[in-house]
Amino acid sequence: MDNKKKVYVGMSADMIHPGHLNIIKEAAKLGTVTVGVLTDAAIASYKRLPYLTYEQRAEIVSNIKGVDNVVPQTTLDYVPNLRELKPDFVVHGDDWKEGVQAKTRQRIIEAMAEWGGKVIDIPYTQGISSTAMNQHLKEIGTTPEIRLKRLRRLINAKKIVRILESHNGLTGLIIENTSVDVNGVKQEFDGMWASSLTDSTSKGKPDIEAVDITTRLHDLNDALEVTTKPVIFDGDTGGKIEHFVFTVRTLERLGISAVIIEDKVGLKQNSLFGTDAVQTQDTIEGFCSKIKAGKNAQITEDFMIIARIESLIAGKPVSDALERAFAYVGAGADGIMIHSKNKDGLDIKEFCTKFRDQNTTTPIIAVPTTYNQFTEDELASWGINVVIYANHMLRSAYPAMVNCAKSILTHQRSLEASQEYCMPIKEILELIPGTKKK
Ligand code: SPV
Ligand code: MG
Repeated sequence: MDNKKKVYVGMSADMIHPGHLNIIKEAAKLGTVTVGVLTDAAIASYKRLPYLTYEQRAEIVSNIKGVDNVVPQTTLDYVPNLRELKPDFVVHGDDWKEGVQAKTRQRIIEAMAEWGGKVIDIPYTQGISSTAMNQHLKEIGTTPEIRLKRLRRLINAKKIVRILESHNGLTGLIIENTSVDVNGVKQEFDGMWASSLTDSTSKGKPDIEAVDITTRLHDLNDALEVTTKPVIFDGDTGGKIEHFVFTVRTLERLGISAVIIEDKVGLKQNSLFGTDAVQTQDTIEGFCSKIKAGKNAQITEDFMIIARIESLIAGKPVSDALERAFAYVGAGADGIMIHSKNKDGLDIKEFCTKFRDQNTTTPIIAVPTTYNQFTEDELASWGINVVIYANHMLRSAYPAMVNCAKSILTHQRSLEASQEYCMPIKEILELIPGTKKK
């Protein structure tokens, strides 16, 4: 038994299909099979999170006939695991000879040569594609429970989680489906921000908690119906403590992952006014009571109550924000959102650095609307875990609509507006699946 050859197979194993079983069957003919199951972090480095957690996927794989060991593969790169195990063979479907995976294969061939190991390519099982299965799953949708858990998993798996504002079903769809290829890596948004500013503005109302929670949640349902990605809800001040506990349970029932509440009292005004508006902060004790009441009310383990600190908005120093941050974490806050309207970002950077000196784990959420010159990598290097682009869908749509309206008025016809500002009719008809009955 001891002189059996060692065989390594790497896989995500999110949706096991006969193609996977065939690879393992072929691998088992060659020797003792170790499967490196990619962790959430390894998968999230190049595509969306798998449906199943690492533990679930590892358990499934360890029960497949022919598998002797399961180990975590913590990077997309096989080489660290291979150097450790020094297998005689790596077995993979031969589809990786072409496309983006060809480079990975080459790197593995070179590493294996260090100890005389070989790469074996198994003919790809035709007619089964994980990508197609993923598409079907997306069409089936998600459940509130799976969606709710997703934000914590993303925070654990990714260097920085990328969230974009959504205020209706259509913007939800844009966030769900838009992706770009940057140097061979698919980039997409991880989830949605239900902004009080854009929820209110899209209704022609001011951002002063005048649009009530029931109305906002009713309308949020439009985005929930057509998406699977997680939602962070802008809970404004959270209202009265006695009301906030009900909001928490309602959000959980809808499958919302987190609520962010800000430590302000009285008539709430938008933070981006800064000191131009009267912004009264709650006492530390008062806000801690609200956080505690919310944490006590929640049913699930995974729902997050994130405390938003308005000290820098109200013109107070970073030291005030830090004192509040530690108190709010002590009261049970699952994350800290630090807000500022300064353009240089220095106050945010100082806050994050000093917070991280004493607390390395509590997620920090930032909304870089004014200090938008920093890239996600830079924000992550300060210790920020979640970046929220808080209003950009609405802010980009509005000027386009006004220009279109002005063009029709100017030309007294729509020819120019259609050419300059509008998508073709054919495209709008094809935008939403099911618009034309088959
Ligand atoms: C929102 O988007 O409603 C926010 C962020 O609360 S801000 O507008 O910057 O206050
Ligand atoms: Mg808001």
